[in-house]
Amino acid sequence: MILVTGATGNVGRGLVRLLTTQGVRVRAGTRNPDAVLPPGVEASSSLDGVNSLFLNPRAVGKSVGYLVAQACAVGVRRIVALSAINVDDDLSAPALS
Ligand SMILES: NC(=O)c1ccc[n+]([C@@H]2O[C@H](COP(=O)([O-])OP(=O)(O)OC[C@H]3O[C@@H](n4cnc5c(N)ncnc54)[C@H](OP(=O)(O)O)[C@@H]3O)[C@@H](O)[C@H]2O)c1
Repeated sequence: MILVTGATGNVGRGLVRLLTTQGVRVRAGTRNPDAVLPPGVEASSSLDGVNSLFLNPRAVGKSVGYLVAQACAVGVRRIVALSAINVDDDLSAPALS
């Protein structure tokens, strides 16, 4: 099971669609419990049963360290981070973006 954070966004929406069409089990991390998602994809940020994690910096923000620690604690062994620099980033803060 892959937890995709930022699952309703520009990057996450396409990623969720791509993974599900390939038969991969996906959980969509979103603040919106009513988000429209592909069939079989649940809207949840729970790490239960998750073995891989996609990190979207816009969605996880400064909670990235906590989330990675929690993920490692529950046995997640593969984490993919989307890395980007944005004009509105706080460059003094350690972050993924
Ligand atoms: N889009 C591109 O083509 C592109 C290209 C290169 C780099 N990037 C970079 O990739 C990163 C994310 O890209 P994106 O376009 O996929 O992001 P996005 O669509 O702006 O946001 C992704 C999701 O994050 C959640 N979110 C947004 N603001 C939030 C906030 N303040 N707190 C918590 N959750 C929030 C929203 O989901 P919910 O409302 O469902 O929770 C949103 O759908 C950015 O750093 C961007 O610069 C994007």
